[in-house]
Amino acid sequence: MDTYKLYNGVEMPIIGMGTWPLAGENLERLMKEALSIGYRMFDTADNYFNEDAIGNVLNKNSSIRNEIFIMTKISDEKKMNFPWSSIGKYFYKTSPYMKAHSAKDVVNMLVNNSLRKLKTDYVDCLIIHWPYPDYFLDIWEAMIGLYKEGKLRSIGVSNCRERHLEMLKQNFSVLPMVNQICISPLDTKRALVEYCRKENIQLVCYAPLMQIKNRLLVESEIMKTLLHKYRVDLGHILLMWNKAQGIVPIPKSAHVERLKANFNFNSVSMISEDVELLYSLNEDMQYLPESIYCPGI
Ligand SMILES: NC(=O)c1ccc[n+]([C@@H]2O[C@H](COP(=O)([O-])OP(=O)(O)OC[C@H]3O[C@@H](n4cnc5c(N)ncnc54)[C@H](OP(=O)(O)O)[C@@H]3O)[C@@H](O)[C@H]2O)c1
Repeated sequence: MDTYKLYNGVEMPIIGMGTWPLAGENLERLMKEALSIGYRMFDTADNYFNEDAIGNVLNKNSSIRNEIFIMTKISDEKKMNFPWSSIGKYFYKTSPYMKAHSAKDVVNMLVNNSLRKLKTDYVDCLIIHWPYPDYFLDIWEAMIGLYKEGKLRSIGVSNCRERHLEMLKQNFSVLPMVNQICISPLDTKRALVEYCRKENIQLVCYAPLMQIKNRLLVESEIMKTLLHKYRVDLGHILLMWNKAQGIVPIPKSAHVERLKANFNFNSVSMISEDVELLYSLNEDMQYLPESIYCPGI
């Protein structure tokens, strides 16, 4: 499988499989299919409640554990049914739990829980799910500690903008190797993409297909031209657009045929003029979890 090299030398596959909201035996079945298709990277999070299922598959494939790249996230255990009105259990100064625990204790506990569920003794990349403003620097410091211990082969962030990354740069010598964000031709985050490129931070694109049915894309003359030119479907165009920028997409599908189609995203390459054409569709459109659930944004 083709890979990108993170700045610490760790290799990350050029495409991964997203796993939210898959879980249980269904996820185990899909992950096995994905492995036989050729996927070697899987994106999960403590608050997807599916690390156990991924761990079961890892356990059965222990002979190829070193070929598999697991990216997981630490989160605040927010009550997902009322995300806008509740603070998380962790990483908020006003949370009763944090009166008795340090951010370092929480990070260690969350990482140990993930390792237990994933049935592995290391994670290939651990990221902070959101830049929790009360404890952002403390969380990062604790993650560096676990990285240096070898429990984490690489560390990164998610949903971070330039100012969050600058904050880490001003305070630490170990910077994120990865930033997992949502971008699409309707929300290109161009300055952030340039910033990460300059700082050697590998971008991972979550929800790369989220706008697949958006009329602004489907009805755009630019998209129609590209669909005709490359003779692929719209999902393929979106994944090619990621690849042409050196960004790792992590599409999720509950259908084996779509897992296969998405994995084939590399069969045609997009030329840079067409990447630019798609940039011209930018609307700074916000994807829901970024704008509503996201602390620290
Ligand atoms: N860091 C973060 O804050 C964050 C936030 C959101 C997501 N994520 C991660 O990113 C992953 C992907 O994001 P996502 O699942 O929200 O969105 P996505 O992967 O962009 O889109 C998933 C949707 O597209 C459909 N789909 C997949 N392949 C398709 C194809 N070839 N043609 C047509 N439709 C297709 C899927 O339906 P079917 O399943 O029915 O095929 C599903 O409805 C998640 O699973 C998660 O791992 C991270």
